[in-house]
Amino acid sequence: MELENLIKTRRSIRNFTNQPVDLELVKKIIELGTHAPSACNIQGWHFIIIKDQKIKDEMIDLGSSIIIKNAPIGILVLYDQRTKNTEYQDHIQSAAAAIQNILLSAHAHNLGACWVCHLPLKEKLKKLFKIEKYLDPIAYIIMGYPQREPYQVKRKYQLEEMISIDKFYRKTPLQSTEKLLTLKKSLYKIYRHTPTWLKKLFFNKLIDKKFVKKFKN
Ligand SMILES: Cc1cc2nc3c(=O)[nH]c(=O)nc-3n(C[C@H](O)[C@H](O)[C@H](O)COP(=O)(O)O)c2cc1C
Repeated sequence: MELENLIKTRRSIRNFTNQPVDLELVKKIIELGTHAPSACNIQGWHFIIIKDQKIKDEMIDLGSSIIIKNAPIGILVLYDQRTKNTEYQDHIQSAAAAIQNILLSAHAHNLGACWVCHLPLKEKLKKLFKIEKYLDPIAYIIMGYPQREPYQVKRKYQLEEMISIDKFYRKTPLQSTEKLLTLKKSLYKIYRHTPTWLKKLFFNKLIDKKFVKKFKN
């Protein structure tokens, strides 16, 4: 597929068929991810491929979104956080560059994928996977063969709105899409710190159901 078309037709996919994904193909896609730029060319990525259902369930118990449950493949993306440029969090940017490469490469191979940050507290993930101290969990990618053709998502703003030349100006300021952001932030913090057993009792199904429903694909 031609690059422009590939970029424009990629969508986040959250519903997958049961068709297994060849591990060699996953590795090839990750390899393409590692051709992304990285700050100071550190190339400090590490990718944990997750196939085992038990591990996915454990992640959900610790606070991951339930959308990871039915994805045949999960990829936990880690990056070396020992950077001098904390101001720009360049280790996160380097990881993100690889993630986008991975999403596009998956799409090029007719796979669907979705970038997921609805994850447990980092310290819990690090303990679960016995991750070395210097590696920062950045995101998780779910991957598999899509159940259906995704709906296309319209761009929210005209290009002219998003570009200014030589200085910043914008006719209509960007509105926060989140209403009651401060309240939501506090509630999310409480949710994330709530012990698993309590979450299981009250929160998980309710919140995740609502969260997953929001998306068409
Ligand atoms: C940093 C980041 C975190 C995201 N986290 C989640 C997530 O936790 N769960 C989810 O369903 N989608 C997640 N997404 C996917 C976005 O919801 C999706 O990209 C957005 O709705 C636009 O849809 P599209 O990717 O189909 O264009 C995330 C995307 C990014 C870039």
